[in-house]
Amino acid sequence: MTAEQAGPAAERVPPDLQERFDATLARDQRVEPRDWMPEGYRRTLVRQIAQHAHSEIIGMQPEGEWITRAPSLRRKAILFAKVQDEAGHGLYLYAAAETLGADREDLTERLIEGRQKYSSIFNYPTLTFADVGVIGWFVDGAAICNQVPLCRSSYGPYARAMVRICKEESFHQRQGYELLMTMVRGTAAQRETVQDAVNRWWWPSLMMFGPPDDASPNSARSMAWKIKRHTNDELRRRFVDMTVPQAERLGVTLPDPELRWNEERGHHDFSTPDWAELAAVIKGDGPCNAERVARRRAAHEEGAWVREAALAHAAKVSARAAAEREGARA
Ligand SMILES: [Fe+2]
Ligand SMILES: [Fe+2]
Repeated sequence: MTAEQAGPAAERVPPDLQERFDATLARDQRVEPRDWMPEGYRRTLVRQIAQHAHSEIIGMQPEGEWITRAPSLRRKAILFAKVQDEAGHGLYLYAAAETLGADREDLTERLIEGRQKYSSIFNYPTLTFADVGVIGWFVDGAAICNQVPLCRSSYGPYARAMVRICKEESFHQRQGYELLMTMVRGTAAQRETVQDAVNRWWWPSLMMFGPPDDASPNSARSMAWKIKRHTNDELRRRFVDMTVPQAERLGVTLPDPELRWNEERGHHDFSTPDWAELAAVIKGDGPCNAERVARRRAAHEEGAWVREAALAHAAKVSARAAAEREGARA
């Protein structure tokens, strides 16, 4: 463990700054960009917020592929709005990372060079339009479980971004569930398509919460800093408990023979996800990792002229303002 990872105790800082930071956390108040913070806290946040931002941006791809193939104008409009929301989420989050001194260009470079991760879930393919519904129901549902507690995260800009993002995630979840409800009321073939999508997305969705607690070494540190509020396993359990009754109402079967209510624990029991698969996907060996990153890289390169033009325009505007100030003084 480096001094940085060891956190506050290992850093040599004026004691009053450390005390003030600790007191802010103890009182459950927010840390703001102007406040002193331990370097480890800042770095952990930059990494988490960047990964979160990357996930929103990469997450546009699997569903975005269906925009041109949506079965009706209404479905196209809904999907369009949803995918645009995800772009917005990415932008809020990059802005939150910038308040910690991170550079957006640098974060994007890290993503397209594979030096920074995004959520494992977006490395699976969307084979049918039912996948759009199941992603809304499971993936946005999992995002809600993950992100609602982050509205109370100790870092102010991150917590505030989460409030707005969570409202939009609720819409995403509902549009997915409503789409599936419509499909299961349709033909037998449509019901089968829904069940097939459920079978394919269930396990990757459970893996979205990350490795089990005993294999998640940074969790305890993030919880002590109140960046994270619940462990991976707690959130995963909450997601399962929330989803089971929704599956019953929809009339689909979740693909886990061990899944049942445990009266004693007050939670569902369920099988262990395939952690080897999660490790492989995180390492870059999922079904769509290469494709997702290549597409993001191409979009970034194709957008270079827009960034150059925006910078040139900004330079011109500030030069003009400087000349006007000069003129006023003369
Ligand atoms: Fe999102
Ligand atoms: Fe979403």
